[in-house]
Amino acid sequence: MIKKKVIFPVLITVAIVFLFSTILGSRSFISEKRSISSSLDCKECHAEIYDHWKNAMHSMSIEDPIFKASFMESYFNTAGEAKYNCLRCHAPVALINNDYDLRKEITKEGVSCDFCHSIKKVNLNDKENPFKFETGDIKWGPLSNVDSPAHQTEPSSLFKSSELCSGCHEYVNDKGVKILGTYSEWKESPYAAEGTHCQNCHMPLIPGKIVKPEIKTSSQKQINLHAISAGHSTEQLRKAVSVDIQTINQEGDIIEVIVNVTNRGSGHMVPTGIPTRKLILYVELKAANEYYSQQRVYQRILVEESGNEIKKEGEIFLTATKASYDNRIRPRETRTERFAFAQPKNRKVTITARVEYLYKTQVLSPTEMRVKMAEDSQVISR
Ligand code: HEC
Ligand code: HEC
Ligand code: HEC
Ligand code: HEC
Ligand code: HEC
Repeated sequence: MIKKKVIFPVLITVAIVFLFSTILGSRSFISEKRSISSSLDCKECHAEIYDHWKNAMHSMSIEDPIFKASFMESYFNTAGEAKYNCLRCHAPVALINNDYDLRKEITKEGVSCDFCHSIKKVNLNDKENPFKFETGDIKWGPLSNVDSPAHQTEPSSLFKSSELCSGCHEYVNDKGVKILGTYSEWKESPYAAEGTHCQNCHMPLIPGKIVKPEIKTSSQKQINLHAISAGHSTEQLRKAVSVDIQTINQEGDIIEVIVNVTNRGSGHMVPTGIPTRKLILYVELKAANEYYSQQRVYQRILVEESGNEIKKEGEIFLTATKASYDNRIRPRETRTERFAFAQPKNRKVTITARVEYLYKTQVLSPTEMRVKMAEDSQVISR
């Protein structure tokens, strides 16, 4: 009798504890499934990929001082509303955790590991949020023959496709103006037809360790370069265009120079993306004491209601009502340009054609970046 009385409450307590622990346990399991992990967690095993990512623009998409200054300006001009627009691409973890006020460290990681590797689908028709996620235990990726003790892996063809990138590299604003067209420019190019995707140029395979060897001796001997670079990489910029002086005609007092500029290595327009980037072709004539220079600018100009050009990034996204001009060079297109100079007195003349990439932002007391992309030079004498 006494025994029974003791055992009963003990059993009940055990049952209650068991019940609670499973409820609590499953609760925390569910919330973990819905949340997103810090890139620092991935670093524990994917150290090499982490280092590449950490040193490139995607990890800096919110810390980038030019973005920060521009964002602050847009934020104040719109009484905070701009955060939903800008952060959807620059701090995209907010799409998952709703942290548009950047209160959590994880939101400040920019375009993070787990953000990309939780994407299941991209639908550009959904303007507020083109991404469908499955966050938690499954990491989606390009490989089908891998196995991890830390998480499930699931192969997805999206990771080999430009579509993955399109969610942020294509954007039409509320006024129906295309602000970023990198994806559609690519889609209409010969590269799309040939099956050359963004990743083929921006994330090439390099020798590397997918995980630290102490975690697993992997059969993978290569990794996709996660230091995704372009405008901020001179090496990438030099692949983009070539310039050739085709003909130099001397007729009477005039020297006519015909120059070809080719977009030979860029999978979209040069320049692409945000319209603060320009390409400038300089053609210069040098003789003993004389120097003449002419130029052509390749760019897209966006204007506001009044017709004035918009130069600030934030305003470009929010207020552009029209593209008033666009003479950028399409993928594999060759543009032929003619220049005429007056004959200098001296007989020996050097003619140089040079293409420079110019990036100019107005937000931080006009900052200018120039990179020489290509050059050709010829000497003539009469
Ligand atoms: C902008 C989106 C994006 C971000 C951010 C990103 N990845 Fe990837 N990752 C990809 C794509 C795309 C591939 C596949 C590329 C291919 O196969 O052409 C890939 C491939 C991988 C692979 C498979 C091995 C390989 O290199 O192909 C691993 C592992 C991986 N990523 C881990 C990470 C980790 C860890 C981070 C953060 C440090 C990270 N990724 C950040 C898009 C991203
Ligand atoms: C405890 C170690 C560990 C941690 C932590 C870890 N991974 Fe992995 N991951 C692995 C291993 C091991 C593989 C498989 C490698 C193989 O089989 O060659 C892998 C594979 C992958 C793949 C390839 C999947 C595919 O199908 O292509 C991706 C993507 C990936 N991890 C992303 C991540 C992300 C994102 C994080 C952080 C949120 C992360 N991993 C954290 C160990 C880890
Ligand atoms: C969640 C949004 C998002 C996704 C997805 C994304 N990007 Fe980006 N990407 C950005 C943002 C934001 C920047 C600009 C960062 C800055 O300069 O502040 C950027 C910058 C870049 C740059 C320019 C880097 C430089 O040096 O100027 C390249 C190239 C690039 N992304 C390629 C890709 C490719 C390839 C993919 C797909 C594998 C991809 N991106 C997916 C948001 C994204
Ligand atoms: C055939 C190779 C190739 C393909 C395919 C390609 N790119 Fe590029 N991309 C380049 C080169 C080269 C540059 C540097 C010159 C330039 O700015 O156009 C570049 C520049 C960029 C820039 C930087 C713009 C700037 O001026 O800062 C972004 C962003 C970008 N690419 C994104 C993408 C995305 C997204 C895709 C897929 C839709 C893609 N690229 C496809 C070669 C390629
Ligand atoms: C649809 C995605 C998207 C949205 C929305 C967006 N951006 Fe960006 N932003 C990008 C990408 C991608 C780049 C990278 C360069 C490119 O493609 O030319 C970029 C580049 C920039 C840059 C240049 C950074 C540098 O260092 O070169 C600034 C500044 C910027 N954005 C500010 C903003 C502001 C402010 C907003 C909100 C009003 C905003 N962006 C909204 C995707 C976006």
